[in-house]
Amino acid sequence: RPRVLSGIQPTAESFHLGNYLGAVRQWVDMQETHDAFYFIADLHALTVNPSPSELRRRTRVSAAQLFAAGLDPERSTLFVQSHIREHSELAWILICNTGMGEAARMTQFKDKAAKFGESSAGVGLFTYPILQAADILMYQADQVPVGADQKQHLELTRDLAQRFNSRYGQTFTVPNPYIPKEVEKIGDLQDPLAKMSKSSSSPQGLLEVLEQPGPLRKKVMRAVTDTGSEVVADPENKPGVTNLLRIQSAVTGVPVPELEARYAGLGYGAFKKDVAEAVVDAFAPIRERTEKLLADETELDRLLAVGGQRAAAIARQTMEAVRDHIGFLPKS
Ligand code: TYM
Repeated sequence: RPRVLSGIQPTAESFHLGNYLGAVRQWVDMQETHDAFYFIADLHALTVNPSPSELRRRTRVSAAQLFAAGLDPERSTLFVQSHIREHSELAWILICNTGMGEAARMTQFKDKAAKFGESSAGVGLFTYPILQAADILMYQADQVPVGADQKQHLELTRDLAQRFNSRYGQTFTVPNPYIPKEVEKIGDLQDPLAKMSKSSSSPQGLLEVLEQPGPLRKKVMRAVTDTGSEVVADPENKPGVTNLLRIQSAVTGVPVPELEARYAGLGYGAFKKDVAEAVVDAFAPIRERTEKLLADETELDRLLAVGGQRAAAIARQTMEAVRDHIGFLPKS
Protein backbone atom coordinates (compact mmCIF):
# COMPACT_ATOMS: atom_id res chain seq x y z
CA ARG A 1 0.00 0.00 0.00
CA PRO A 2 1.27 3.48 -0.80
CA ARG A 3 1.75 5.66 2.25
CA VAL A 4 -0.23 8.86 2.83
CA LEU A 5 0.72 11.53 5.34
CA SER A 6 -0.77 14.89 6.22
CA GLY A 7 -1.00 17.34 9.11
CA ILE A 8 -3.27 20.06 10.43
CA GLN A 9 -2.54 22.87 12.87
CA PRO A 10 -4.42 23.16 16.17
CA THR A 11 -4.69 26.93 15.86
CA ALA A 12 -8.43 27.41 16.38
CA GLU A 13 -11.27 26.08 18.51
CA SER A 14 -12.71 24.41 15.42
CA PHE A 15 -11.68 23.38 11.94
CA HIS A 16 -13.47 25.23 9.13
CA LEU A 17 -15.13 24.12 5.93
CA GLY A 18 -11.92 24.70 3.92
CA ASN A 19 -9.94 22.37 6.20
CA TYR A 20 -12.74 19.84 6.07
CA LEU A 21 -13.30 19.73 2.30
CA GLY A 22 -9.72 20.50 1.25
CA ALA A 23 -8.02 18.06 3.62
CA VAL A 24 -9.85 16.09 6.31
CA ARG A 25 -12.30 14.39 3.94
CA GLN A 26 -9.46 13.18 1.75
CA TRP A 27 -7.72 11.83 4.86
CA VAL A 28 -10.78 9.79 5.75
CA ASP A 29 -11.16 8.44 2.20
CA MET A 30 -7.49 7.59 1.84
CA GLN A 31 -7.32 5.51 5.01
CA GLU A 32 -9.20 2.85 2.98
CA THR A 33 -6.58 2.64 0.26
CA HIS A 34 -3.34 3.83 1.86
CA ASP A 35 -1.07 3.18 4.79
CA ALA A 36 -2.28 6.32 6.58
CA PHE A 37 -0.37 8.68 8.89
CA TYR A 38 -1.94 11.92 10.08
CA PHE A 39 -0.88 14.32 12.78
CA ILE A 40 -1.75 17.45 14.70
CA ALA A 41 0.94 20.02 13.95
CA ASP A 42 1.43 21.52 17.39
CA LEU A 43 5.05 22.48 16.64
CA HIS A 44 3.81 24.52 13.69
CA ALA A 45 1.13 26.11 15.86
CA LEU A 46 3.87 27.60 18.08
CA THR A 47 4.59 30.08 15.28
CA VAL A 48 1.54 32.05 16.44
CA ASN A 49 2.43 31.77 20.16
CA PRO A 50 -0.74 30.28 21.66
CA SER A 51 -1.08 30.24 25.45
CA PRO A 52 -0.24 26.83 26.98
CA SER A 53 -3.84 26.19 27.98
CA GLU A 54 -5.10 27.14 24.50
CA LEU A 55 -2.58 24.88 22.84
CA ARG A 56 -3.44 21.93 25.10
CA ARG A 57 -7.17 22.40 24.59
CA ARG A 58 -6.95 22.91 20.83
CA THR A 59 -4.74 19.90 20.34
CA ARG A 60 -7.37 17.69 22.01
CA VAL A 61 -10.25 19.38 20.16
CA SER A 62 -8.41 18.78 16.89
CA ALA A 63 -7.86 15.11 17.64
CA ALA A 64 -11.49 14.67 18.68
CA GLN A 65 -12.72 16.36 15.48
CA LEU A 66 -10.56 14.15 13.31
CA PHE A 67 -11.85 10.96 14.92
CA ALA A 68 -15.38 12.40 14.79
CA ALA A 69 -14.99 13.15 11.07
CA GLY A 70 -14.26 9.49 10.45
CA LEU A 71 -10.60 8.73 11.09
CA ASP A 72 -10.52 5.22 12.43
CA PRO A 73 -7.75 4.64 15.00
CA GLU A 74 -7.43 1.05 13.73
CA ARG A 75 -6.85 2.01 10.11
CA SER A 76 -5.16 5.40 10.52
CA THR A 77 -2.24 6.39 12.67
CA LEU A 78 -3.14 9.73 14.26
CA PHE A 79 -0.47 11.32 16.42
CA VAL A 80 0.71 14.59 17.92
CA GLN A 81 3.75 16.05 16.16
CA SER A 82 5.58 17.11 19.34
CA HIS A 83 5.41 13.54 20.68
CA ILE A 84 7.88 12.52 18.00
CA ARG A 85 11.03 14.44 18.94
CA GLU A 86 12.67 13.52 15.64
CA HIS A 87 10.61 16.13 13.74
CA SER A 88 12.59 18.95 15.31
CA GLU A 89 15.87 17.15 14.75
CA LEU A 90 15.21 16.46 11.08
CA ALA A 91 13.98 20.03 10.59
CA TRP A 92 17.37 21.35 11.75
CA ILE A 93 19.22 19.03 9.40
CA LEU A 94 17.05 20.14 6.48
CA ILE A 95 17.42 23.82 7.47
CA CYS A 96 21.15 23.36 6.99
CA ASN A 97 20.44 22.13 3.46
CA THR A 98 18.10 24.98 2.48
CA GLY A 99 19.08 28.24 0.81
CA MET A 100 18.01 31.59 2.24
CA GLY A 101 16.54 32.59 -1.13
CA GLU A 102 14.61 29.36 -1.48
CA ALA A 103 13.01 29.84 1.96
CA ALA A 104 12.37 33.54 1.35
CA ARG A 105 10.41 32.73 -1.83
CA MET A 106 7.60 31.00 0.09
CA THR A 107 4.50 33.09 -0.57
CA GLN A 108 2.74 31.97 2.61
CA PHE A 109 5.68 33.29 4.64
CA LYS A 110 5.65 36.54 2.70
CA ASP A 111 1.91 36.98 3.28
CA LYS A 112 2.16 36.22 6.98
CA ALA A 113 5.30 38.32 7.46
CA ALA A 114 3.59 41.25 5.75
CA LYS A 115 0.83 41.09 8.37
CA PHE A 116 3.32 41.39 11.24
CA GLY A 117 5.68 43.80 9.56
CA GLU A 118 8.97 42.60 8.08
CA SER A 119 11.25 42.52 11.12
CA SER A 120 8.75 41.55 13.82
CA ALA A 121 7.60 38.34 12.10
CA GLY A 122 8.93 35.33 14.03
CA VAL A 123 11.82 33.24 12.72
CA GLY A 124 9.55 30.20 13.13
CA LEU A 125 7.33 31.49 10.33
CA PHE A 126 10.40 31.56 8.10
CA THR A 127 11.50 27.98 8.84
CA TYR A 128 7.90 26.68 8.99
CA PRO A 129 7.94 25.05 5.52
CA ILE A 130 11.21 23.26 6.30
CA LEU A 131 9.68 21.72 9.43
CA GLN A 132 6.80 20.69 7.17
CA ALA A 133 9.27 19.02 4.81
CA ALA A 134 10.72 17.15 7.80
CA ASP A 135 7.23 15.93 8.76
CA ILE A 136 6.65 14.52 5.31
CA LEU A 137 10.07 13.02 4.61
CA MET A 138 10.24 11.41 8.07
CA TYR A 139 7.48 8.96 7.11
CA GLN A 140 8.64 8.30 3.54
CA ALA A 141 5.22 9.48 2.34
CA ASP A 142 4.15 8.81 -1.25
CA GLN A 143 1.08 11.09 -1.21
CA VAL A 144 0.28 14.24 0.75
CA PRO A 145 -3.37 15.40 0.57
CA VAL A 146 -3.55 19.19 1.11
CA GLY A 147 -5.28 22.32 -0.15
CA ALA A 148 -3.81 24.50 -2.92
CA ASP A 149 -2.22 26.85 -0.37
CA GLN A 150 0.29 24.09 0.48
CA LYS A 151 1.43 23.44 -3.10
CA GLN A 152 4.58 25.54 -2.83
CA HIS A 153 5.55 23.88 0.45
CA LEU A 154 5.24 20.50 -1.26
CA GLU A 155 7.50 21.66 -4.08
CA LEU A 156 10.10 22.74 -1.53
CA THR A 157 9.76 19.35 0.18
CA ARG A 158 10.40 17.55 -3.10
CA ASP A 159 13.44 19.75 -3.81
CA LEU A 160 14.88 19.10 -0.35
CA ALA A 161 14.34 15.34 -0.68
CA GLN A 162 16.06 15.21 -4.05
CA ARG A 163 18.94 17.38 -2.85
CA PHE A 164 19.46 15.29 0.27
CA ASN A 165 19.35 12.05 -1.71
CA SER A 166 21.93 13.28 -4.20
CA ARG A 167 24.24 14.77 -1.54
CA TYR A 168 24.11 11.95 0.99
CA GLY A 169 22.72 8.93 -0.84
CA GLN A 170 19.19 7.58 -1.21
CA THR A 171 17.39 8.40 2.05
CA PHE A 172 13.94 9.85 1.35
CA THR A 173 10.93 9.02 -0.80
CA VAL A 174 10.10 12.02 -2.99
CA PRO A 175 6.42 12.75 -2.17
CA ASN A 176 3.59 13.78 -4.46
CA PRO A 177 0.98 16.37 -3.48
CA TYR A 178 -2.65 15.25 -3.78
CA ILE A 179 -4.79 18.32 -4.42
CA PRO A 180 -8.28 17.62 -5.83
CA LYS A 181 -9.18 20.53 -8.09
CA GLU A 182 -12.84 21.01 -7.05
CA VAL A 183 -11.99 21.59 -3.38
CA GLU A 184 -8.42 22.90 -3.55
CA LYS A 185 -9.45 26.39 -2.47
CA ILE A 186 -12.78 26.89 -0.70
CA GLY A 187 -13.52 30.62 -0.74
CA ASP A 188 -14.43 32.95 2.11
CA LEU A 189 -18.21 33.52 2.05
CA GLN A 190 -17.76 37.29 2.25
CA ASP A 191 -14.79 37.45 -0.12
CA PRO A 192 -15.05 34.39 -2.38
CA LEU A 193 -11.81 35.08 -4.24
CA ALA A 194 -9.88 34.76 -0.97
CA LYS A 195 -9.49 31.35 0.65
CA MET A 196 -11.59 30.59 3.70
CA SER A 197 -9.16 30.90 6.58
CA LYS A 198 -9.11 31.08 10.35
CA SER A 199 -7.24 34.36 10.11
CA SER A 200 -9.62 35.89 7.57
CA SER A 201 -10.93 39.36 8.16
CA SER A 202 -14.55 38.64 9.09
CA PRO A 203 -15.98 35.67 11.01
CA GLN A 204 -19.01 35.98 8.70
CA GLY A 205 -16.96 34.43 5.91
CA LEU A 206 -15.98 31.34 7.91
CA LEU A 207 -18.05 28.16 8.46
CA GLU A 208 -16.77 26.26 11.46
CA VAL A 209 -17.29 22.53 11.91
CA LEU A 210 -18.21 22.89 15.59
CA GLU A 211 -20.62 25.80 15.08
CA GLN A 212 -24.33 25.51 15.86
CA PRO A 213 -26.85 25.21 12.97
CA GLY A 214 -28.30 28.69 13.60
CA PRO A 215 -25.15 30.72 12.90
CA LEU A 216 -24.14 28.37 10.08
CA ARG A 217 -27.45 28.95 8.28
CA LYS A 218 -27.25 32.70 8.82
CA LYS A 219 -23.76 32.93 7.33
CA VAL A 220 -24.68 30.95 4.23
CA MET A 221 -27.84 33.02 3.69
CA ARG A 222 -25.72 36.19 3.97
CA ALA A 223 -22.93 34.91 1.75
CA VAL A 224 -21.92 37.34 -1.00
CA THR A 225 -23.56 36.42 -4.29
CA ASP A 226 -23.17 38.11 -7.60
CA THR A 227 -25.26 40.25 -9.90
CA GLY A 228 -27.99 38.47 -11.82
CA SER A 229 -30.09 35.69 -10.39
CA GLU A 230 -28.93 32.55 -12.17
CA VAL A 231 -27.29 29.74 -10.29
CA VAL A 232 -24.43 28.88 -12.65
CA ALA A 233 -20.75 28.16 -12.12
CA ASP A 234 -18.72 30.99 -13.64
CA PRO A 235 -15.53 31.55 -11.64
CA GLU A 236 -14.75 34.83 -13.38
CA ASN A 237 -18.07 36.63 -13.25
CA LYS A 238 -19.79 34.77 -10.41
CA PRO A 239 -17.15 33.77 -7.86
CA GLY A 240 -19.63 33.83 -4.97
CA VAL A 241 -22.20 31.54 -6.59
CA THR A 242 -19.43 29.31 -7.96
CA ASN A 243 -17.96 28.89 -4.48
CA LEU A 244 -21.37 27.93 -3.04
CA LEU A 245 -21.98 25.48 -5.89
CA ARG A 246 -18.63 23.82 -5.27
CA ILE A 247 -19.38 23.60 -1.56
CA GLN A 248 -22.80 22.07 -2.10
CA SER A 249 -21.47 19.65 -4.67
CA ALA A 250 -18.59 18.54 -2.44
CA VAL A 251 -20.82 18.09 0.60
CA THR A 252 -23.69 16.28 -1.16
CA GLY A 253 -21.81 14.45 -3.92
CA VAL A 254 -24.14 15.89 -6.59
CA PRO A 255 -22.14 17.16 -9.62
CA VAL A 256 -22.22 20.93 -10.27
CA PRO A 257 -24.06 20.71 -13.65
CA GLU A 258 -26.84 18.76 -11.98
CA LEU A 259 -27.16 21.45 -9.32
CA GLU A 260 -27.25 24.17 -11.97
CA ALA A 261 -30.15 22.36 -13.64
CA ARG A 262 -31.95 21.88 -10.33
CA TYR A 263 -31.94 25.62 -9.51
CA ALA A 264 -32.64 26.92 -13.02
CA GLY A 265 -35.18 29.73 -12.64
CA LEU A 266 -35.39 29.37 -8.84
CA GLY A 267 -33.05 32.19 -7.87
CA TYR A 268 -30.45 32.55 -5.14
CA GLY A 269 -32.72 32.25 -2.10
CA ALA A 270 -33.83 28.65 -2.63
CA PHE A 271 -30.30 27.65 -3.60
CA LYS A 272 -28.66 29.16 -0.52
CA LYS A 273 -31.21 27.54 1.74
CA ASP A 274 -30.21 24.12 0.42
CA VAL A 275 -26.49 24.89 0.69
CA ALA A 276 -27.05 25.85 4.33
CA GLU A 277 -28.93 22.62 5.07
CA ALA A 278 -26.27 20.53 3.35
CA VAL A 279 -23.53 22.10 5.48
CA VAL A 280 -25.56 21.77 8.69
CA ASP A 281 -26.26 18.11 7.91
CA ALA A 282 -22.58 17.44 7.30
CA PHE A 283 -21.34 19.22 10.42
CA ALA A 284 -23.96 18.31 13.06
CA PRO A 285 -22.95 14.66 13.50
CA ILE A 286 -19.25 15.62 13.64
CA ARG A 287 -19.97 18.22 16.32
CA GLU A 288 -21.97 15.74 18.38
CA ARG A 289 -19.31 13.03 18.18
CA THR A 290 -16.58 15.57 18.98
CA GLU A 291 -18.38 16.57 22.18
CA LYS A 292 -18.65 12.93 23.25
CA LEU A 293 -14.98 12.23 22.56
CA LEU A 294 -13.90 15.35 24.47
CA ALA A 295 -15.83 14.17 27.51
CA ASP A 296 -13.26 11.38 27.99
CA GLU A 297 -9.82 12.97 27.76
CA THR A 298 -8.11 9.91 29.17
CA GLU A 299 -9.36 7.78 26.29
CA LEU A 300 -8.52 10.47 23.74
CA ASP A 301 -4.97 10.77 25.09
CA ARG A 302 -4.67 6.99 25.04
CA LEU A 303 -5.62 6.83 21.35
CA LEU A 304 -3.03 9.52 20.58
CA ALA A 305 -0.39 7.60 22.53
CA VAL A 306 -1.09 4.46 20.47
CA GLY A 307 -0.73 6.50 17.27
CA GLY A 308 2.44 8.04 18.65
CA GLN A 309 3.99 4.61 19.19
CA ARG A 310 3.30 3.55 15.62
CA ALA A 311 4.69 6.84 14.26
CA ALA A 312 7.77 6.65 16.50
CA ALA A 313 8.78 3.29 15.06
CA ILE A 314 9.03 4.76 11.55
CA ALA A 315 10.63 8.02 12.68
CA ARG A 316 13.32 6.04 14.51
CA GLN A 317 14.16 4.06 11.36
CA THR A 318 14.33 7.14 9.12
CA MET A 319 16.52 9.04 11.57
CA GLU A 320 18.95 6.16 11.97
CA ALA A 321 19.55 6.31 8.22
CA VAL A 322 19.68 10.12 8.16
CA ARG A 323 22.22 10.35 11.01
CA ASP A 324 24.40 7.71 9.43
CA HIS A 325 24.22 9.17 5.90
CA ILE A 326 25.03 12.65 7.09
CA GLY A 327 28.09 11.56 9.07
CA PHE A 328 27.02 11.80 12.71
CA LEU A 329 28.88 9.35 14.94
CA PRO A 330 26.75 6.53 16.34
CA LYS A 331 25.82 7.02 20.03
CA SER A 332 27.20 3.46 20.49
P1 TYM B 1 -3.57 24.14 8.10
O1 TYM B 1 -3.82 23.69 9.50
O2 TYM B 1 -3.47 25.60 7.85
O3 TYM B 1 -4.69 23.59 7.15
C1 TYM B 1 -5.02 22.22 7.13
C2 TYM B 1 -5.39 21.77 5.74
O4 TYM B 1 -6.53 22.49 5.26
C3 TYM B 1 -6.27 22.97 3.96
N1 TYM B 1 -7.04 24.22 3.76
C4 TYM B 1 -7.87 24.45 2.73
N2 TYM B 1 -8.23 23.69 1.66
C5 TYM B 1 -9.11 24.22 0.80
N3 TYM B 1 -9.67 25.46 0.94
C6 TYM B 1 -9.35 26.25 1.99
N4 TYM B 1 -9.91 27.45 2.13
C7 TYM B 1 -8.40 25.75 2.94
N5 TYM B 1 -7.87 26.26 4.08
C8 TYM B 1 -7.04 25.31 4.56
C9 TYM B 1 -4.77 23.23 3.95
O5 TYM B 1 -4.28 23.29 2.63
C10 TYM B 1 -4.27 22.03 4.71
O6 TYM B 1 -4.16 20.90 3.87
N6 TYM B 1 1.17 23.62 6.76
C11 TYM B 1 -0.03 22.82 6.97
C12 TYM B 1 0.09 21.87 8.14
C13 TYM B 1 1.19 20.88 7.99
C14 TYM B 1 1.27 19.82 7.02
C15 TYM B 1 2.51 19.16 7.29
C16 TYM B 1 0.47 19.41 5.97
C17 TYM B 1 2.31 20.80 8.77
N7 TYM B 1 3.09 19.76 8.33
C18 TYM B 1 2.90 18.06 6.53
C19 TYM B 1 0.87 18.32 5.20
C20 TYM B 1 2.09 17.65 5.49
C21 TYM B 1 -1.13 23.84 7.23
O7 TYM B 1 -0.94 25.00 7.19
O8 TYM B 1 -2.31 23.33 7.57
